[in-house]
Amino acid sequence: MEPSKHYDIHPFDFDHAGKMSSDVKKTLKQAGLNFDFIKRVSVAAYEAEINIVIHSVGGYADFKMIDNVVYLQFIDYGPGIENIELAMTPGYSTANEISQLNGFGAGMGLINIKNSCDEMSLLSDPNGTVLKLKFIMTEDHYRVD
Ligand SMILES: Nc1ncnc2c1ncn2[C@@H]1O[C@H](COP(=O)(O)OP(=O)(O)OP(=O)(O)O)[C@@H](O)[C@H]1O
Ligand SMILES: [Mg+2]
Repeated sequence: MEPSKHYDIHPFDFDHAGKMSSDVKKTLKQAGLNFDFIKRVSVAAYEAEINIVIHSVGGYADFKMIDNVVYLQFIDYGPGIENIELAMTPGYSTANEISQLNGFGAGMGLINIKNSCDEMSLLSDPNGTVLKLKFIMTEDHYRVD
């Protein structure tokens, strides 16, 4: 399995939105990890990927797996999150009409990310946003079949 992967994420590219997270999902499946762990990682990856698509001017994501830990980072080039505490509030969203028409904007992404991962760090200023996530596998995250 490739230990690290890089993905560019383009703003409002709804045709390709979700590709990064589905590739991460595929990678983890090939590594033989169990369904619950893969689901946790891919839910968070999907929400973070879509946030770059619908809220930023564009950015990228990196996947890394070292021993029993999956690291994801999502970096974009702005305009940043004005108030992180508010952004983390379930139901709060600034998603525009096009994003809403594409099914996004419930204001649940960041809280889902937080609940899916083992560690989360979110830093933001007008030059961009950096989201780092850590997922820790325990032995029973490996499939037994
Ligand atoms: N990368 C980002 N850049 C700028 N603002 C962001 C970014 N990610 C999130 N936000 C801000 O935080 C808010 C909450 O994000 P969250 O993912 O929880 O909800 P949402 O994206 O609006 O809706 P949903 O995720 O349910 O489709 C967003 O509406 C936006 O204002
Ligand atoms: Mg979101």
